[in-house]
Amino acid sequence: MRISLIRGDGIGPELADAAKQVLFAAADAQGLVLELDELEAGDSALEKEGRALPDRVFEAVKSSDACLKAPVGESAADVIVALRRRLDLYANIRPAVAYPGTPALHPGIDMVIVRENTEDLYTGAEVDLGDSAVALRPVSARASERIARRAFQEAGGRKKLVTCVHKANVMRVSDGLFARACASVAQDHPGVKFEQMYVDACAMEIIRRPERFDVIVTTNMFGDILSDEASQAAGGLGMAPAANVGDSAGLFEPVHGAAFDIAGRGVANPCSMILASAMMLEWLAARKSDARCASAAGAVRSAVRSMAKEGSKTRDVGGAMSTREFASEAARRASGR
Ligand code: NAI
Repeated sequence: MRISLIRGDGIGPELADAAKQVLFAAADAQGLVLELDELEAGDSALEKEGRALPDRVFEAVKSSDACLKAPVGESAADVIVALRRRLDLYANIRPAVAYPGTPALHPGIDMVIVRENTEDLYTGAEVDLGDSAVALRPVSARASERIARRAFQEAGGRKKLVTCVHKANVMRVSDGLFARACASVAQDHPGVKFEQMYVDACAMEIIRRPERFDVIVTTNMFGDILSDEASQAAGGLGMAPAANVGDSAGLFEPVHGAAFDIAGRGVANPCSMILASAMMLEWLAARKSDARCASAAGAVRSAVRSMAKEGSKTRDVGGAMSTREFASEAARRASGR
């Protein structure tokens, strides 16, 4: 299988190396051969080549079986937003899970935010009118229905509760359409409980009773903000992976950004990127019907879980390990040695 790896900016290359080490250890142990295509995109590519996402890089990502992406910096919109749109990666799946021993608000946090990834204010349709500005917020029935279907699919294998988050009391037209689309998809899933919640109430509930949530489905910007909040509630951004998936392509990355404030110091938590590689393996397992991918994903997850439980952690979650120390130990465990 061919995996494209975008090394990113800031802490990106440190995380890319850590994830690579763990991914290969888990894959080798299962007899799974992975071919890695390491790519440069983001601020570094912009500086060297004048483009944050060179065509060659886009083509390499497109032709790979899956893409693992480290965070990029200020050019994030030109890389990740562009990749999401050009590859039609319409679903952004962001789990927030409280791992044992991490500073979570509640030990029972286990939710997934399913964020619409192609529309809303992130399309960049903004107009500069001199002393004022206007941003367009496209929301379509097609995109809303397909993200709702994805959310119900997730919930079916979990606690069977979908919370549709919007602000339809104020944005009556755009969020009204989103809420109606989700409610209509809910009718096809009588086995899954469906509820609606305004985004401000949801932001509060994620702090007050985060363990009450199962699957949250929401629009692009609300999902971006709520998923950072949910990650922090579950223990911190350093533990938070994300999947960007469409009908035929998948890209996996940390929820967080390039963390320039700690770049190059060897202290970044690589779990976000390591867990993103586990999500990638699970997606490949389903797509290619390859049980070795599922076993490798399981080994990666149990390495992270067992280390968290024992207190083998980086400092952002209360430990003392360096990025490299964490990666080496996680790789050893994932390889089963
Ligand atoms: P950030 O997510 O990079 O960092 C927020 C805070 O969390 C910082 O204090 C950072 O040190 C900490 N943090 C993040 N990841 C961590 C990890 N793995 N281990 C330990 N601590 C961690 O957010 P910020 O500072 O707003 O953005 C920095 C850059 O990242 C910006 O240039 C932004 O455009 C870019 N960005 C890129 C994204 C992407 O590639 N998908 C997503 C979000 C931001």
